[in-house]
Amino acid sequence: MSSRPYVLLSVAMSLDGYIDDASAERLLLSNAEDLARVDEVRAGVDAILVGANTVRSDNPRLVLREPRLREQRRARGDHPDPIKVTITGSGDLDPQANFFQLGESPKIVYALSSTVSTVAARLGTLADVVDAGDPLDVPKMLEDLASRGVRRLMVEGGGAIHTLFLAAGFVDELHVVVAPLFVADERAPRFVNPGAFPVTARMTLAEVRQIGDCALLRYLSGEADA
Ligand SMILES: NC(=O)c1ccc[n+]([C@@H]2O[C@H](COP(=O)([O-])OP(=O)(O)OC[C@H]3O[C@@H](n4cnc5c(N)ncnc54)[C@H](OP(=O)(O)O)[C@@H]3O)[C@@H](O)[C@H]2O)c1
Repeated sequence: MSSRPYVLLSVAMSLDGYIDDASAERLLLSNAEDLARVDEVRAGVDAILVGANTVRSDNPRLVLREPRLREQRRARGDHPDPIKVTITGSGDLDPQANFFQLGESPKIVYALSSTVSTVAARLGTLADVVDAGDPLDVPKMLEDLASRGVRRLMVEGGGAIHTLFLAAGFVDELHVVVAPLFVADERAPRFVNPGAFPVTARMTLAEVRQIGDCALLRYLSGEADA
């Protein structure tokens, strides 16, 4: 098996590159049709990764919505939902969060060495807590996921996590959904945090699709042949 999974990074953003607004409520950026598409994409991966801040602020469920997709996964011997993965430095994760409470698939937490024992004690049997080094070693984390049978990993944000994966050069495919609105608030989180890495190489635009009032741009890593 490959030493790292194929990494698909997925994001919905405003026309000005924000992934939420600055309020406590999550801003709905995409639409029902796109949420159904995301459900299908999720059904095709082995694991979904979000940052600890997204677990805290959005309390996402990260389980498949469509029963047919769960049945299809079961029929091919997979977990009915993709494995859930998160990353934390602070260890501030609530065992009651939907991330840990919902779905039948395993949950994995990559924690910095300094917090791993505290997080493991707090979460008990709810998650497998793995020492991710200090600083966090992304290649090692991806190797660990591959050793657990994860061949396709979907990275769903937020901004710090997008930035981490893009800066490390570990994104094979990028799905950007552009919603027809502006946020225009510097306090709001952005798709990628500015200044975190130098300008990257060009990617290949593989698809442009209209999804209701949104646009999906699908990119593959690397430049297309001229
Ligand atoms: N539109 C979209 O597609 C989309 C998708 C997901 C989320 N969002 C939005 O994104 C926002 C959250 O984004 P965010 O950037 O604040 O947070 P985030 O990326 O969800 O999570 C960041 C957290 O992950 C942990 N982390 C990240 N890199 C790490 C490293 N190298 N070492 C150790 N820990 C690390 C830290 O957790 P600790 O703090 O525990 O140390 C850090 O605070 C929310 O507003 C959410 O609604 C939007």
